[in-house]
Amino acid sequence: MDFDKVIDRLGTRANKLEFRKLLFKTEDVIPLWVADMDLPIAKEIQDDLQKRLKHPIFGYTHQDNEFIDAIVNWQKNKHGWDISSRSVTPISGVLPAISVSIKSFTNEGDKIMIQTPVYHPFYNLIEKSNRELVRNPLIEKDGNYYLDFDDMEKSLSAGVKMIIISNPHNPVGKVFTIKELEQIVNLCNKYNVKILSDEIHADLITGNKPHIPIASISNEASNLTITCMSPTKSFNIAGLSVAYTIIENKSIRKTYRYEVNSMHLNMVNTLGTEALISAYTKGDVWLEELVEYIKSNVAFVANFLKTNIPQVSMSNNEGTYLLWLDFRKLKLSNSELKSFLIEKAKLGLNQGNSFGEEGSGFARLNVATPRVILEKAMEQLRSAVDELK
Ligand SMILES: Cc1ncc(COP(=O)(O)O)c(C=O)c1O
Repeated sequence: MDFDKVIDRLGTRANKLEFRKLLFKTEDVIPLWVADMDLPIAKEIQDDLQKRLKHPIFGYTHQDNEFIDAIVNWQKNKHGWDISSRSVTPISGVLPAISVSIKSFTNEGDKIMIQTPVYHPFYNLIEKSNRELVRNPLIEKDGNYYLDFDDMEKSLSAGVKMIIISNPHNPVGKVFTIKELEQIVNLCNKYNVKILSDEIHADLITGNKPHIPIASISNEASNLTITCMSPTKSFNIAGLSVAYTIIENKSIRKTYRYEVNSMHLNMVNTLGTEALISAYTKGDVWLEELVEYIKSNVAFVANFLKTNIPQVSMSNNEGTYLLWLDFRKLKLSNSELKSFLIEKAKLGLNQGNSFGEEGSGFARLNVATPRVILEKAMEQLRSAVDELK
């Protein structure tokens, strides 16, 4: 696969490009923000979609055994996780699945915990549904992030109903260890807290630790957990809106499905259905190549920063194609950093503080782009930092 080739996305209604004016007030920035890739999808998926497109009718579509089997086999082969077919519920996206779970398992005023800084829509989902957001900030040490279990237990014992984890973690790129997952499960089991595990980045592992689905580690874990997964990040098909939950606990699954059906969210679109089957049955070789490409881009940025912009560092990336850049040494306020990145470096990144106050002084860089674009972006950043001196 030629991931080095630059593909013009203009004219495809790509948010990454076409929302530049709205977000950055200019189109003169290299867009390296929203989490999709400027890289071509697997040929196998494209061929299967094209085959389907040749049929002239796109009516209501269901997810049959082929769809479910593709998921069951993917989890087994990719993550060594044995799941039952009945545990799988299709849905159009991970965010809708989280929204349904919040409504299914908590009431207004209930407390829901997140590990901040974290994927910004989590805040919205919790607060807009009138639940109380409980922060359990990650502890940062020399570019690595750790869970604060003392703080977690303190809050859980005070009555948290649900914890939403992002593993691999967006934006800090952390992959949770088995020990960390066990500790989360032990605490959630002790205080009867449901675990919503958002594992949308599970197949994008760039470091040495494997991704471990939290529900796979024990019966206790599986009994407490709603796992959200999707091929959309790893196979670059976010526009096709396809995702699913895995819930082994019968009573949790029943409640969740009741809500999904009552909100009429059980429809997955026709092309998303085809794409998931294709990705999970034919996409593994492409994915291996993609991950190698992402890893080389991560290494390029790490090396470039170290050699040319030592004032800016990045946290240890173990998963996701999102890099968490630390600009704190530049001593800029959040609004100064924003102007600096847009006006001086001409980069369209995600502002760190949009992931929570702990992200102040940081920005998120999406490296799922051809190397030449990344090289240009890093050169622009170098010149902008040099001008500050
Ligand atoms: C952690 C995380 N969860 C969920 C989503 C969005 O999922 P979906 O498009 O399936 O709603 C993203 C997208 O970037 C993400 O990073």
